[in-house]
Amino acid sequence: MLILVTGGTGYIGSHTCVELLNNGCDVIILDNLVNSEREVVDRIAKITGKRPLFYQVDATEAAAVDAVFSAHPIDGVIHFAGLKAVGESVEKPLAYYKNNLLSTMVILEHCVKYGVPRFVFSSSATVYGENEVPFVETMELKPRSNPYGETKAMCEKILSDTASRNPEMSVALLRYFNPVGAHESGLIGEKPRGVPNNLMPYVTQVAKGLLPELRVFGSDYPTPDGTGVRDYIHVMDLAEGHLAALEKMGRGVHIYNLGTGRGTSVLELITTFEQVNKVKIPYRIVDRRPGDVAECWADVSKARRELGWTAKRGIAEMCRDAWRFEQLHG
Ligand code: WQD
Repeated sequence: MLILVTGGTGYIGSHTCVELLNNGCDVIILDNLVNSEREVVDRIAKITGKRPLFYQVDATEAAAVDAVFSAHPIDGVIHFAGLKAVGESVEKPLAYYKNNLLSTMVILEHCVKYGVPRFVFSSSATVYGENEVPFVETMELKPRSNPYGETKAMCEKILSDTASRNPEMSVALLRYFNPVGAHESGLIGEKPRGVPNNLMPYVTQVAKGLLPELRVFGSDYPTPDGTGVRDYIHVMDLAEGHLAALEKMGRGVHIYNLGTGRGTSVLELITTFEQVNKVKIPYRIVDRRPGDVAECWADVSKARRELGWTAKRGIAEMCRDAWRFEQLHG
C-alpha cells in the first residue's frame, strides 16, 4: 500500500513511517516542518533502507495538498499533522482550532475527492476528560477544558459524519494515552522545541544535565503515592497499532484506545528510569499543574479483540530507549 503520512517527520509520525516501511508499505510524508526537522527523513531511510517521498507542505494549504494527491495513487492516509501542546492551546485557542480542524478537513476532503478509502486519525485520550478510569471507547466525550482536546473531539465528529456519507470509507480514530520512548536505534525520538512540557523528555534532559531538576507537579492526588498516574505507551507499540488499524479496520468508523491498560505514577517512572539507566534524577515536589487529572489509563480490550493488537513493551524499555535517544540526538 502507498500511505500518505501527514506530520510524518514528527515524533509519532516518524516512528509510524518506520513501521510502515518495514512492513512493505511505500510512504509519502507531508509535513510543514514547524515542529520537526527534515533530517528525520534521512534517519527513517537509514533505519529501514527505504526512503519515503517527502513534501514540505502545510496540510491546511488545499492547493499544495491537491498537488500531492493528484500525483500519487494513495491507498490510505494517517493524519498526524497538528498542534499538540495542551498549555499552548490555552494561550492560542484560535491557532489550534484553525490549524487542527482545517488540516483535517483539507486532508479528508481530498480523500473523498480522490477516492482514498482509508483514513487513520491521531486522536488523544484527552477527549475523555473527567470520565472515570479506565477510559472506554463508548464513553461520552468530555474533553478537558483545553482547546487542544476540543479540537481532537471535533475532528473525530467531522470524520465520523463524513464517513457516514461515504460508505466505502474506513476511518479509525486512535486515542493515544502517553506516548514515550524511542526507536531502539536511537536515531529518532521525541525532541520537543524549548523546555519540554511532557514528563519523559523533561526527565531525559535532567539526566543529561540540560535541566537542573524535575518539578513533580503535586503529591497530594488520590493515587498510591500521591503523584499523577498515566498510561505510558512505547512509541513503537503505538506505531504498530497504526499499522494494525490500517490493515484490519473494515468500512465505517472505528474508535480504539492505544495504551497499555496499566497506570504508572510519576515517582514510579523516575525510580524505574534511575534503575534502568543508572542515573540520578533530582526532583522537587511542587504544586499541582492546572488542568492535570489524578489518573488517566485505558481499557485496551477493544483493540486487542478487533485488531489483534496489544502493547508489548514495558516502562523499563521505554526509559532505556528514551535515554538512548537523548544521549545520541537529544
Ligand atoms: C504526565 C504526568 C504530570 C511534567 C499530555 C497531554 C496529552 C498528550 C500527552 C498529546 C502528569 C507529571 C509532567 C513535569 C510532572 N499529548 N509531570 N512534571 O499531561 O498526561 O498528557 O501529554 O496528545 O494530550 O494532555 O502528559 O507528560 O505532561 O504529564 O510532574 O515536568 O507527569 O503532572 O502527572 P499529560 P505529561
